[in-house]
Amino acid sequence: MTATESTATESASTGVRLRPEIAALPPYRQGRPAPADGFKLSSNENPFDPLPSVQQAVAATAGSINRYPDATALALREVLAARFGVSADEVIIGAGSVALIAQFVLAAAGPGDEVVYSWRSFEAYPGLVTIAGATSVAVPNRPDHGHDLDAIADAVTERTRVVIVCTPNNPTGVTITRAELDAFLARIPADRLVLLDEAYVEFVRDADAVDGRELIGRHPNLVVLRTFSKAYGLAGLRVGYAIGPVGILDAARATAIPLGVTAAASAAAIASLEPAAEAELRERVEVIAERRDRVRAALIGQGWPIPVSQANFIWLPVGERTSEIAERLFDAGLVTRAFPPEGIRVSIGEEESVDTLLRILNELVEG
Ligand SMILES: Cc1ncc(COP(=O)(O)O)c(C=O)c1O
Repeated sequence: MTATESTATESASTGVRLRPEIAALPPYRQGRPAPADGFKLSSNENPFDPLPSVQQAVAATAGSINRYPDATALALREVLAARFGVSADEVIIGAGSVALIAQFVLAAAGPGDEVVYSWRSFEAYPGLVTIAGATSVAVPNRPDHGHDLDAIADAVTERTRVVIVCTPNNPTGVTITRAELDAFLARIPADRLVLLDEAYVEFVRDADAVDGRELIGRHPNLVVLRTFSKAYGLAGLRVGYAIGPVGILDAARATAIPLGVTAAASAAAIASLEPAAEAELRERVEVIAERRDRVRAALIGQGWPIPVSQANFIWLPVGERTSEIAERLFDAGLVTRAFPPEGIRVSIGEEESVDTLLRILNELVEG
C-alpha cells in the first residue's frame, strides 16, 4: 500500500485526509472518575488540598485574565534559576513537563529519526514520538522493572536523536543510581539529546538514587525535567520545568505552542516555592513516601512481588490477572491504572484508601 492509499484508508471515518499515524493513535486515556466515597488512585495526583497561600496567589491573578501571560514565565524562571544555580536562560517552563518533553522531541527528532526509551514507562512517550514523525525504540525493562541502561545504550544508532530516561520510572517506581547514570551518559554520544524525566524525584528516599540536580551543567546534551504536578500538588494548573544547556532549551522554546503557561500557573508555582509553603509541601511528601513504604511492606508481607518504588505510586506486576484485579479494586471504590497484561499502577493517595487496598489484595491472595 502506498502512503497516499494509507492516508485515504485512515481518514475514511472523517472524509478528511489525516496523517495515518496520527489517526491510528489512541486518544489520551484519562483514568475513570472515582465512584462516590471512592478514591482516584489512577493519575499519581497529590491527595492533599491546595495550600491556602497557593490558592490566594492563584486568585490574585483573576483580575488580569483579560491579558496574555508573560510568554516565558520569567518570574518563575528566575526563582528556579536561583535555586539551581543557573541563569534564567537555562530554565524553560512548560504547560506541564509533558508539554516540555513534546517540545524537546519535536526540536530534535523528525521522520527517519529514532527516540529510545525504556518500556514500560510513561505512557505519553510513544504518542509524543509519533506526533513528531519520529520512530520509537522501546527497550524492555529489566526483570526488576528498572531501566536496562546497557541495552538502552546499545540501542542508540546513527538514527537516534533523543534518549529518554525516567527515574523514578512511571509506572514501576524503580530508580537509577548515580553511578549507573554516570556510566550510561559516558556511553551516549554527546550530540544526542538525553532527557532525564524526574517527575517524581521529590518522593525519592534512596540515597543512592540519582538526583538530576547534581548533573546540571556537567553534560552538553543533558536536560533535566521536573514538574509541579506531583509533589507540589498543582496538576490541574499545568506547570513543569526543565534545566539544561541554553541552545537546546532555545530549540524547545521554538517548538512550543506560544503562551501555554498561564499567569495563574506561574503564580501558584512561585507561591509553592516560598519557604513556609514549600516546607509544608515537603512534609506532605514525607507523609506520602512513608505511606508508600508502609503499603509496599504490607503487600510484600501478603506475598505480592512489588518492586522498590521511590515514587508516589506502586506497581503490581500481576500479568494476565491485571484486568480482573483492577476491576475488583474498582468495585471496592479504588480507581487504579491497569496496563493489561502487565500490571496495575496504584497511586499512593488518601490514608483512608489504604485499608481497602490492603484488604482487597489480601482477599485475592487468600482466595
Ligand atoms: C514520568 C512522567 N513524566 C512527566 C509527567 C508529566 O507531568 P505534568 O505534565 O503534569 O508535569 C508525568 C505525569 O504523569 C509522568 O508520570
